[in-house]
Amino acid sequence: MKRVLHLISRLLGAERAHSCCLVLLRIADKVPMVKWLLHKLYAIEDSSLEREVFGIHFRNPIGLAAGFDRNGEVFRPLSALGFGFVEIGTVTPRPQQGNPKPRIFTLPEDNAILNRIGLASKGFEAVLENVRKEHKGIVLGCNIGKNTVTPPEEAPIDYLRVFRNLYQYMDYFAVNVSYNTTHKQYIPRSRESIMAILEPLFDFRRGQNQYRPILLKISPDLTNEEIDLMTDIMVDTPLDGIIATNATTFHSGLQTSQEELRKCGAGAVSGAPLTERTIEIVRRVYTRCNGTYPIIGVGGLMTGEDVKRMMEAGATLVQVYTGFIYNGAGFAGDLCKSLIAPEVTEPTSPAAPENQ
Ligand SMILES: Cc1cc2nc3c(=O)[nH]c(=O)nc-3n(C[C@H](O)[C@H](O)[C@H](O)COP(=O)(O)O)c2cc1C
Repeated sequence: MKRVLHLISRLLGAERAHSCCLVLLRIADKVPMVKWLLHKLYAIEDSSLEREVFGIHFRNPIGLAAGFDRNGEVFRPLSALGFGFVEIGTVTPRPQQGNPKPRIFTLPEDNAILNRIGLASKGFEAVLENVRKEHKGIVLGCNIGKNTVTPPEEAPIDYLRVFRNLYQYMDYFAVNVSYNTTHKQYIPRSRESIMAILEPLFDFRRGQNQYRPILLKISPDLTNEEIDLMTDIMVDTPLDGIIATNATTFHSGLQTSQEELRKCGAGAVSGAPLTERTIEIVRRVYTRCNGTYPIIGVGGLMTGEDVKRMMEAGATLVQVYTGFIYNGAGFAGDLCKSLIAPEVTEPTSPAAPENQ
């Protein structure tokens, strides 16, 4: 599968392969019965998978991470594949192209992807068209960010603009303060800069009838002290949870040759190289907040065993991206199956001695 994927991505380019997937999913969305069929083929329904987190009912804890359905175009068929929730975005206020192509590369020796998309978004108005149509029964999150050209001091206005315009159509929001694929993007790291973004969102939410949980999506490249600071912000404010983590800009320890990496250029790595660091971060956040807040664990979850370890570390829900690309359409279902405890069969009691 890995080699086939690499070949396809070599022939088409990883981004064109992704675009082809989106086209197929859009067709699946339009043609009657296809979503039903996908659900029948791939989704796993089991009451032991259901979760109640920040007031939302999830049919299973496996979500699709941000970046796959950036503009909310195909979340219905993705949900039909068995994901318990789909996070769209990152959505920016105004449309932006992102970095020049090519900007996505598969690294099969590492079970990883390197990307420097740089937040390509059609802007919130295009997303609004896609999400305002009925999507009952699908838990939909929205990952929000700022336009690249917006200076850091105006970042809070960008986040608020996307948040308030999409508020009523979403189940939760992920505030992306972690997207830095080329070291050039601004990542707020201080309490002041994070609070400057969050406070206007909390204020807006206070005036609404419906409550929408707000989560902070953090980078794996933060120091332990910075991770503690993010956790303290969650404990001290109305923030509802943390999503840990985004992709990493560290390339050390990869199996891919230096020459191959040089050809790819700068970018953030996702997939297997992230597993250990992300689990460690989730454990750190969980311990510091005494397990009292929901954590969504994401980064390098490539097998059911990874998901179990992430949950043991303290994640309430998990998300996948690279694992889905490498394992294909049935991945959410496979992870769900691995979480369903095998039925314990009662030992048959020895036959009672017959009365003679
Ligand atoms: C091609 C690609 C694009 C991504 N785009 C975004 C994005 O727009 N916003 C975001 O918060 N995370 C984005 N991510 C990060 C993922 O949501 C996820 O946090 C990260 O890839 C780690 O999970 P994984 O190892 O399962 O891929 C992107 C990842 C990839 C591979």
